[in-house]
Amino acid sequence: NTGNNFTGKRILITAGGTREPVDPVRYIGNRSSGKMGYALAQAAKSRGAEVILISGPVSLSPPAGVEFVKVETTQEMREAVLANFNQVDIVIKAAAVADYRPLEPQEQKIKKTGEIVTLQLAKNPDILKELGTLKKHQLLIGFAAETEELIANAAEKIRLKKLDMIIANDVTLPGAGFDADTNIVKLLYPSGRVEELPQMSKTELSAVILDKIYNLMINLT
Ligand code: C5P
Repeated sequence: NTGNNFTGKRILITAGGTREPVDPVRYIGNRSSGKMGYALAQAAKSRGAEVILISGPVSLSPPAGVEFVKVETTQEMREAVLANFNQVDIVIKAAAVADYRPLEPQEQKIKKTGEIVTLQLAKNPDILKELGTLKKHQLLIGFAAETEELIANAAEKIRLKKLDMIIANDVTLPGAGFDADTNIVKLLYPSGRVEELPQMSKTELSAVILDKIYNLMINLT
């Protein structure tokens, strides 16, 4: 599977979770480790692609030779993705984007006065959905982490976000999803086709995902 070649292709990959500030010392975040996105960036780079990796804060080092953009919030990720979108052929959105952010991040550290405090949240932009409305030649690949109705929810996201493929995982399974070294996924396509993959490492899964993207790519040309 190293045979297929991404030389001359530009791939934008997002990875990790975003952090939404509550006050200067606190944020809302999630359990994303960035492992899946970084493994994909490494695999794409070694197949000859030009890789732009846009990442939330994680404890991994970016693979050698990739263009790296570090972001904190969903809004920063959106800016970075949109700034690069016209120049790329493929987008893989492996990031676990925070769907909501504190409506009014406090300038000073919040004091522990009340027994119950309420935090108002505002909806974040859906970056991938926005790309779906903007896309021309680009292939759009999304991820769907679900805890129920895996196929139905992932199929709905393909339609809503105009994706070419979605990688769906049931994050309740042991050995799948956030912070795990392995993943158990199903690949869905706009046609309704579903491919089930066995449990494998995120590195092995990256190779499979790139093989599938290569197939989508050559069917286009
Ligand atoms: O959160 P959701 O299940 O809708 O995520 C599906 C896909 O959309 C993922 O690839 C994720 O990176 C992307 N997404 C995004 N912006 C959001 C939420 C999700 O780009 N605000």
